[in-house]
Amino acid sequence: MSLQNINPSTTEAWQKLRNHFYDMQANSIKEMFANDSQRVEKFNIKWEDFLVDFSKNNITEQTMDLLVELANEVELKKAIESYFSGENINQTEDRAVLHTALRANENDEVLFEGKNVIPEVFQVKAKIKEFSNQVISGNKRGFTNKAFTDIVNIGIGGSDLGPAMVTEALQFYSNHLNVHFVSNVDGDHVMETIKKLNPETTLFVIVSKTFTTQETLSNAETIREWFLKSAKQEDVAKHFVAVSTNIEKVTSFGINSENIFPMWDWVGGRFSLWSAVGLSISLAVGFDNFNALLKGANKMDTHFKETSFDKNIPVVLALISVWYNNFFGAETEALIPYTQYLQKLAPYLQQGIMESNGKSVGRDGNPVNYQTGTIIWGEPGTNSQHAFFQLIHQGTKLIPTDFIGYKESLYGNKDHHDKLMSNFFAQTEALLMGKSESQVKAEFDKQGISKVKAEFLLPFKVFRGDKPTNTLLIDKLTPESLGSLIALYEHKIFVQGIIWNIFSYDQWGVELGKQLANSILDEINAKSINQHDSSTTFLLNQFLK
Ligand code: F6P
Repeated sequence: MSLQNINPSTTEAWQKLRNHFYDMQANSIKEMFANDSQRVEKFNIKWEDFLVDFSKNNITEQTMDLLVELANEVELKKAIESYFSGENINQTEDRAVLHTALRANENDEVLFEGKNVIPEVFQVKAKIKEFSNQVISGNKRGFTNKAFTDIVNIGIGGSDLGPAMVTEALQFYSNHLNVHFVSNVDGDHVMETIKKLNPETTLFVIVSKTFTTQETLSNAETIREWFLKSAKQEDVAKHFVAVSTNIEKVTSFGINSENIFPMWDWVGGRFSLWSAVGLSISLAVGFDNFNALLKGANKMDTHFKETSFDKNIPVVLALISVWYNNFFGAETEALIPYTQYLQKLAPYLQQGIMESNGKSVGRDGNPVNYQTGTIIWGEPGTNSQHAFFQLIHQGTKLIPTDFIGYKESLYGNKDHHDKLMSNFFAQTEALLMGKSESQVKAEFDKQGISKVKAEFLLPFKVFRGDKPTNTLLIDKLTPESLGSLIALYEHKIFVQGIIWNIFSYDQWGVELGKQLANSILDEINAKSINQHDSSTTFLLNQFLK
C-alpha cells in the first residue's frame, strides 16, 4: 500500500494555522510565561530518562491542537502503521523502510513481502557479536599473528556518519581498539589516516550498501595496495571485511564470503547504523553496548508508535518545527548538545534530515507550494557560545534551537559539569528573556557609565529575547539513551516527510553531481575537455594547465 497523497496546504488545519499565525506572529513568549504560571506544566513531556521542555516556544494550547489536527488530516497515524509494517513507503525506489526492524525484539514479527525478517536480523547480529568478541579478545589476529589494535572504517555518507558519530559519542564506553574513519575520496584523507598505522595490527571494515560508491571503492583499493606492500594477497582475508547488500561485488573485490556482513535493501543508508553498518561501533564499544544502543532506539520506536500525538516526543518536535518552517518562514534549525561527545551529532543529522526532506516535488509528482526540509546545523555548547551564538541572540534570523544536556557527566567531575550545565540553562533563559532597556540602564548606573556613553551603547546591549528553544534534559549519556535520541530524530524526519507530502527515503538529488563527476574524470584522464558551460570549461582548462 502506498502513502496518502495529501497536500498539507489544502487541509483545513493548515488554513486555521495560517490564520492563527497572524495572531501569534507578534506574540511574546516571555509574556506568555508571565501570564501563565502553569505554562511549563502544559508543555513538557517526561518519558523514561528524557525530559523534553518545549514551553519556550511561540505556541499556545491552540497552536498545539491545530498542529495535531494537521497531523490527523494528513493521516499520520496510518502512515506510522505503514512505516512499521514494512509497506513500500519508499515508492520512488520501490522499497520498504524498515530500519526499525533492526532494533526490534527477537520474538517480534516484522513481515517484508510476507516473510518475517527478524530471524535474519538476529543471525547477522549474532555474527556481529561473534566477530566483535573475537577481535576485542585478541583471538582473531592479523597475518603475523598479532592482535588487532586499530580498526579503519572505509565508507561515506550513511556508511560513515552514523558509525563515526556513535563511536565518538560512546568513547567513554570504548575498549583498547582505536577506530578510524576514512570517507573522503581526497587521497590526503586516506594517507593521513593510515600513515601511523601498522598493517600487521589493523583491521579494515569496508562499508558500502551498494559497493559501487566511488569514494569508498577508491579508498579501499588504495588501502589494499598499501597493505600489500607489507603482506601477501592471501593475508587480505584476515584484514578486510565488508558490509554490503552487493555480495557479488564484494567477492570480486577479493573478500571471502565469511567476511561479508549482509544488509538489506529495506535499510536506507542514512538509517543503517543499527545494522552491520554499525560493526565499527560494536568493535569500539563491544557488542553489549551496541545492543543497548539498539534497545534504546526500540524503546523510542514503541513510544512513537503508541503514544498520542500531543505527548509523543518525535511528533511534538516535528510539529513545532513545521510551525516555524512553514508559517514563520524559519529556514534553519540549530542543534546544540552540551557534551563534547556529541560533536558529530549535527553533521550526522544533516544527512538524515537534509537528504531525506530536502525535496521539492510532492508525492503527487507536482512541485510543492510550501517549504520542506529545514537546514540543520550546530556544534556543542559551550564552544558554540563563543562562535555563532551572537547571531542567534541578536541577529535578524529566527533560529529555533534544540538544546540537549545531561544531568550527569560521565567522569563525574561535578565542578566542570555544573559549569557546563549552568551555561546550558543560562542560554535558553537568555534566549527567552533577553535583556530589556531598563535592565541595561540599571547595569550602566551600577557601573557608573557616563550618560552620553550609556545613551550610545544602550541599543547594542539590549536583547529582544523571545527566541524559541526546546530543551532535552536526559539523565546520562549511555548507549541506551543515545539510541533513543537518534531514533527520536529519525521519527521527527518521518513525521515531517508525511506532513510535507514528500518521499523522505530516496536521494535522487545526489545523483546528478555523481554522474557529471564521472564524465569530467574521463575528460581529465583524456586531457581533453568537452563542451560545458563557459565557466566550467575555463576552470577545467586551468586545472589541466
Ligand atoms: O550520498 C548518497 C548516498 O547514497 C547515501 O544515501 C549513502 O549513505 C551514501 O551515498 C553511501 O552509499 P553506499 O553505502 O552505497 O556506499
